[in-house]
Amino acid sequence: MPRVQKPEGQPTRGKTASNRLRRADNFLLLYEPSLLTRTDGRFAASLFVDLGYGFDARTTLESAARFRRVNPNLPILGVEIDKERVDAALPFADARTHFRLGGFNLPMKAGEHVRLIRAFNVLRQYEEKDFTPAYERLAEYVLPGGLMIEGTSTPFGQLWAANLVRMTEARAWSREALVFSTNFRLGFDVEDFQTILPKNYIHRVVPGEPIHDFFEAWKRSAAETAHAKTFGLRQWFIAAAEALSAKGFKVDVKKKWLAKGYLIWKVDAAGC
Ligand SMILES: C[S@@+](CC[C@H](N)C(=O)[O-])C[C@H]1O[C@@H](n2cnc3c(N)ncnc32)[C@H](O)[C@@H]1O
Repeated sequence: MPRVQKPEGQPTRGKTASNRLRRADNFLLLYEPSLLTRTDGRFAASLFVDLGYGFDARTTLESAARFRRVNPNLPILGVEIDKERVDAALPFADARTHFRLGGFNLPMKAGEHVRLIRAFNVLRQYEEKDFTPAYERLAEYVLPGGLMIEGTSTPFGQLWAANLVRMTEARAWSREALVFSTNFRLGFDVEDFQTILPKNYIHRVVPGEPIHDFFEAWKRSAAETAHAKTFGLRQWFIAAAEALSAKGFKVDVKKKWLAKGYLIWKVDAAGC
């Protein structure tokens, strides 16, 4: 049985939408498929955890289908702090798919480990001061080498921005990247990404902060490359990212990412 413990966190709005997180899943499948498929050591039976899946479990079940294309045996756990939402999900549980009432302190059974946590549109409803304690609590069951993607999206997932953090051998989070995603359906305006930044950045787009410098440089880069719009939004997005990279920002300019609408900014590892 899971340890009986009070879920840490607070109930928040449960809005979700079908396929809202499809691009986040596709990003993970491209970024590190081995995270989902590896079966070495404790990874063999380790879980993908979807924290805060919302008023129903559709995004968890959609991810289950996507991730099990590469690992049919992947165990999946949806965690919700709202009991009614757990009850609504339980009819969809099976031997590999679990739903539990919980919070940042994830209820796990003895011997269970986590390879990947996805927490989307959860921390946005908290205060900035809650961010670091939440990350510290979530770290507890994650295997070294494991990953968390934690971010915010628009209601239907056309745009999102997410932190990627990696668990180190020393059992601490190491910041790996801030990732921006667009399917280009809402056009391309750098400012739109500012409004969906994760909690640790959204209040910090002010002079003197690195995230402010990043956005100013990205906006300048988009303006300088506006001529590329003639060839379409995708080409413009690529050209702007290349211009941003030329300004010294550690942006991954591989077409594999940019052509699909993913901008990966490799951030400084320190401080979660
Ligand atoms: C806006 S919904 C997001 C649903 C889904 N992840 C998505 O992006 O479409 C946020 C959900 O997170 C849940 N939640 C908030 N804090 C939580 C916590 N500490 N642990 C687990 N669930 C939490 C809320 O109950 C709510 O259902």
